[in-house]
Amino acid sequence: MIVGVIGSGTMGAGIAQVAATAGCGVILFDADTQALERSQTNLEKILNRLIEKGKYTEAKKAEITGRISYVENIQEMANVNLVIEAIVENPEIKKSVFETVEGLVSDECIIASNTSSLSITSLAAVLKRPERFIGIHFFNPAPLMKLVEIVPAIQTSAEVMQHAKEMIDTWGKLTVIAKDTPGFIVNRVARPFYSEAIRIYEEGIAGIATIDWAMKEIGGFRMGPFELMDFIGHDVNYTVSETVFKSFFYDVRYRPSFTQKRLVEANYLGRKSGKGFYDYENPSTDPVP
Ligand code: NAI
Repeated sequence: MIVGVIGSGTMGAGIAQVAATAGCGVILFDADTQALERSQTNLEKILNRLIEKGKYTEAKKAEITGRISYVENIQEMANVNLVIEAIVENPEIKKSVFETVEGLVSDECIIASNTSSLSITSLAAVLKRPERFIGIHFFNPAPLMKLVEIVPAIQTSAEVMQHAKEMIDTWGKLTVIAKDTPGFIVNRVARPFYSEAIRIYEEGIAGIATIDWAMKEIGGFRMGPFELMDFIGHDVNYTVSETVFKSFFYDVRYRPSFTQKRLVEANYLGRKSGKGFYDYENPSTDPVP
């Protein structure tokens, strides 16, 4: 089984690792050579850490890394059995990539998107054979998070849905089938987790660190809402909020926050840029107002 992964950022790199660990050959493509190099270096680091902890052997690392080819040319996708796209959350860019991919792969190849918020049905519609298209939505970090949402478009065939689900199950993940609606299951439930936390902060009810502390200590969450938004990246998290809001015909329940929009405009994207709600370069300073 050969899996093509398009986009070697946070999610694509993680999905490539999951597929290779499950024994699949992986062709990992990105339009940006540096992103490819970064994902290769990061995977080395992750696997070395697992060796240090005694969880992996050098041989296992060599097997996993040996299964992944990092490619700068999308034409290399020609012989894959499954394509999972994990590029920027922009419908037009994604659609153009899917049109290109369909022209390269066999008729049997399943084409999937890891989109968090776009309509799977609208992405499927650009294909000549939309019945082979499906959403396969991993969570961050993909190698650690068990859950994967399988989201058939209204055009997706029952066989493709079943096949996609079975494949991801064999990768050691827990799959759930969700209808193609904005945010699917988890991202929809999570919207108020973020937006109400920001509102509580904006209304002066409690500070960022206090809200995070309360949700972890009392609520039992692994991360507080602000830590989680900083971890996901405000560009990604805000875009998902905006898409869900628009997709629900501007239902105020999903209205995004100006506070978060300003963070995106300032390029305070969270952990990946060194600053978000928290300042990771000067951790002693107060969270960003
Ligand atoms: P990212 O920004 O870390 O990586 C995106 C990668 O795609 C970059 O390396 C970029 O160079 C590449 N890229 C952009 N346009 C391209 C093109 N036309 N052809 C080839 N490569 C291209 O983004 P991230 O966070 O990995 O998100 C990717 C997708 O996964 C998005 O659809 C997002 O909604 C979804 N997602 C993100 C999650 C997260 O927590 N970050 C969780 C679950 C899904």
